[in-house]
Amino acid sequence: MSFSSFELLDHSKPILVFGRDGQVGRALQVCLKDLKVPAVFLGHSDCDLSNELAIKEVLNHYQPQVIINAAAYTAVDKAESERELAFAINAKAPAVMAHYIANVAHGILVHYSTDYVFADSKQGAYLESDVVGPVEKLSVYGQSKLAGEQAIEEAFNLAHDSGQVTYADKFARYFILRTSWVYGDGGNFIRTMLRLASERDQLKVVVDQVGVPSSADWLAEVGVQMAGSRVESGIYHAVPDGETSWHALAVFAIETAASSGEGIEVKSENILPIPATDYPLPASRPYNSRLSNAKLKKALSEMAFTGQYPHWQEQVTAYVKRIVEESLKS
Ligand SMILES: NC(=O)c1ccc[n+]([C@@H]2O[C@H](COP(=O)([O-])OP(=O)(O)OC[C@H]3O[C@@H](n4cnc5c(N)ncnc54)[C@H](OP(=O)(O)O)[C@@H]3O)[C@@H](O)[C@H]2O)c1
Repeated sequence: MSFSSFELLDHSKPILVFGRDGQVGRALQVCLKDLKVPAVFLGHSDCDLSNELAIKEVLNHYQPQVIINAAAYTAVDKAESERELAFAINAKAPAVMAHYIANVAHGILVHYSTDYVFADSKQGAYLESDVVGPVEKLSVYGQSKLAGEQAIEEAFNLAHDSGQVTYADKFARYFILRTSWVYGDGGNFIRTMLRLASERDQLKVVVDQVGVPSSADWLAEVGVQMAGSRVESGIYHAVPDGETSWHALAVFAIETAASSGEGIEVKSENILPIPATDYPLPASRPYNSRLSNAKLKKALSEMAFTGQYPHWQEQVTAYVKRIVEESLKS
């Protein structure tokens, strides 16, 4: 992917990235370094996003024109018993960021969100315009991420109504990038499957939940691309092409690893498909996590975007090969 220019930005002010040590945050570090764009990366110890005052202090200190928020409370099951904390990090913190960007910086907020804002109200791929929820069927994590989306939209709408946001110059804007099944530098489903495949001779994997695996590297690129673009504010579904089940993803990743030289114990026929009901978890998860990427594709096509839109299989192949190479080296 190539990037549109950042000519709209004041380069004396840094891009502020929250979530430095997460999967997408780590990928953003690489992406922005390669671009040589001034950026400050903050981890949990630099700014606790459950502390509103700490966020405000950081914003006043750095005075960013662009915020990329890759931080989140992502412990989906734990969130069921930590509702307040999940909402503080996933809803209140983005609200503070949005308020600052819309009213003070007149800049750009890029925020990552999730397929968990949908609860199987549809069979096919969800559009950005589809109704979310129903809220009572969402996990606490899903509810908190949805509240974060709504808080961002509300902050910008209020600023717009009060004349703080000038859409005419297409500057003060937000991009909510809803994604799914993220994998990168950190713990994730693919890494877990590869580890289990080297330890066990049989695996059972959920087959009736369908979604799109999304590479953290690519999500970082998309976030940066959007930040430097002139496209309209809004929600964008950021997933590669294609779809799969957890079971088919596990088989694909394990077979790719085996053909790349990784020592794999389990044979493909011993990766057994099971229904999600056989693997009960505290938080409910959507059966249908398909997100339509048509709006994002159109937006990217209007930028100085030269790359091919990716398919999840090519991204997972490259990722697994990289992991295998690293493990063979060590
Ligand atoms: N992972 C997925 O499958 C998935 C799917 C759909 C959408 N998303 C969304 O994509 C985005 C990036 O996900 P990811 O996989 O990169 O997440 P991740 O690897 O779990 O990283 C989240 C980061 O947020 C930080 N964080 C948590 N609580 C914090 C706090 N109180 N103050 C400051 N930082 C805090 C964490 O730091 P500590 O670990 O130090 O607490 C961690 O570095 C998130 O918005 C997530 O909701 C993820």
